[in-house]
Amino acid sequence: MNYGGILAGGIGRRMGRSDLPKQFLMLGTKPILIHTIEQFLVSSEIDKIVLAVPQNWKSYAEDLIKKYCQSDDIDIISGGETRNDTILNICNHIKDTYGLNNDDIIVTHDSVRPFITQRIIKDNIEICKSTDAVDTVIPAYDTIVESKDNKKISSIPIRDYMYLGQTPQTFKIQTFIKVYSTLTNEEKNILTDACKMFVIKNKEVKIIMGESYNIKITTPYDLKMASLMLGEEYKDD
Ligand code: CTP
Repeated sequence: MNYGGILAGGIGRRMGRSDLPKQFLMLGTKPILIHTIEQFLVSSEIDKIVLAVPQNWKSYAEDLIKKYCQSDDIDIISGGETRNDTILNICNHIKDTYGLNNDDIIVTHDSVRPFITQRIIKDNIEICKSTDAVDTVIPAYDTIVESKDNKKISSIPIRDYMYLGQTPQTFKIQTFIKVYSTLTNEEKNILTDACKMFVIKNKEVKIIMGESYNIKITTPYDLKMASLMLGEEYKDD
């Protein structure tokens, strides 16, 4: 089975809206996360969707799904404290509810990347069949500059080898659970990225190409950009 894991467990601090986590903000005619979920619903490759939201926003999310999606293929669960904990909650929900086979795949995606395409979902699943982890990236067109003390340059890596990470990140579910269980608390604290956990454990992560427009809505500026991309007037409410 191929599962879609929609990560909506954050509160969107950088968006600066204390009343509403950013994934629930309107983008055009519907909330941001509904645009995202719709792409997973229309994908013929995805058998089931698990949506993880902050615990106290579960009934709000249930109402939204009823209003906009009318689908029985979406389970709504609580997210975790960190993004990785949210992915683990989704994997454990699948394990406890549906059981796990060796080849079960989870396509995890930021709820706030509404411009994901069918091609990206398809490529993630196809490549994950032959490995344990897949990351979606785009080439770094700007030079990447590293500064270890945040004051002066420590290195400028060769740009041809540099990419910017997006989502989806796709995993064999059993392997994700297994690798996560080997992490120390210290490792968990520094692992902001789920694929990095595979990298530090010397496990292969294949890459597939995303799209420059597969943006993550993080700040009010991003929301404005997303509205323009949709051809909608941006309303700052
Ligand atoms: N996310 C999640 N569970 C968490 C934290 C984040 O599912 N514990 C999700 C967010 O809801 C978002 C995605 O991961 O869809 C990308 O994370 P980010 O943009 O950093 O979202 P927030 O953590 O909500 O934003 P901020 O860091 O500004 O608070």
